[in-house]
Amino acid sequence: MSINIAIDGPAGAGKSTIAKMIAGKLGYIYVDTGAMYRAMALYLLREKVDPSDAEAISAKCREADITIGYENGGQIVYLNGENVNGSIRTEEVGNMASASSPNPDVRRKLVELQQKLAADTDVVMDGRDIGTCVLPDAQVKVYLTADSRVRAERRYKELTDKGTACDLDTIEQDIVKRDRQDMTREISPLKKAEDAVLIDTSHMTADEAADAVIALIPDRE
Ligand code: DC
Repeated sequence: MSINIAIDGPAGAGKSTIAKMIAGKLGYIYVDTGAMYRAMALYLLREKVDPSDAEAISAKCREADITIGYENGGQIVYLNGENVNGSIRTEEVGNMASASSPNPDVRRKLVELQQKLAADTDVVMDGRDIGTCVLPDAQVKVYLTADSRVRAERRYKELTDKGTACDLDTIEQDIVKRDRQDMTREISPLKKAEDAVLIDTSHMTADEAADAVIALIPDRE
């Protein structure tokens, strides 16, 4: 039986860094579900869809074929065959992803893809609804969180390291706004699964957090 590790939590809690580290340490596949919602959002932005027009989102999302592949251990997201990894990490795409991800047609399509990926492979999957909805039977469920200021500082560092000019307060405001959107939406809101273990990474290194998750894996039968 394959082992599935589900990691949920708000933006900037360290999910992807920690999930990647766990996958590297254990030889599991890392599945970044946020990247799939971002690829969908990129398509909607390119098609100039109004983020508040649910019908247009439902219609347009059918045209977006999203698949993933792996190169040198890294996940690549393809949008209608195009590698879009380099275009999905902007605040604009993140905001559109937050606005369009509550759409049931978007979710149905991407959740199906995520479940297929995890069915017979050891995966570490991160997102917002992995433990509650995508992989309810995952052997390990973790809810990662951190103080909003700490999360903003991490995002700020990530962006400035890439040479992108940004403002810390604006990033924190965006994070708080996105948390609110993700936690209060009707469909699959971000929330801790009842059986998920809460880990606050505000004062932890990524390595410490990864080891804390690995310690939760039951012995393989
Ligand atoms: O983790 P991220 O910032 O790349 O995610 C982008 C957006 O996608 C986020 O605002 C919420 C949404 N998302 C989701 O609804 N469900 C997931 N499993 C992953 C992300």
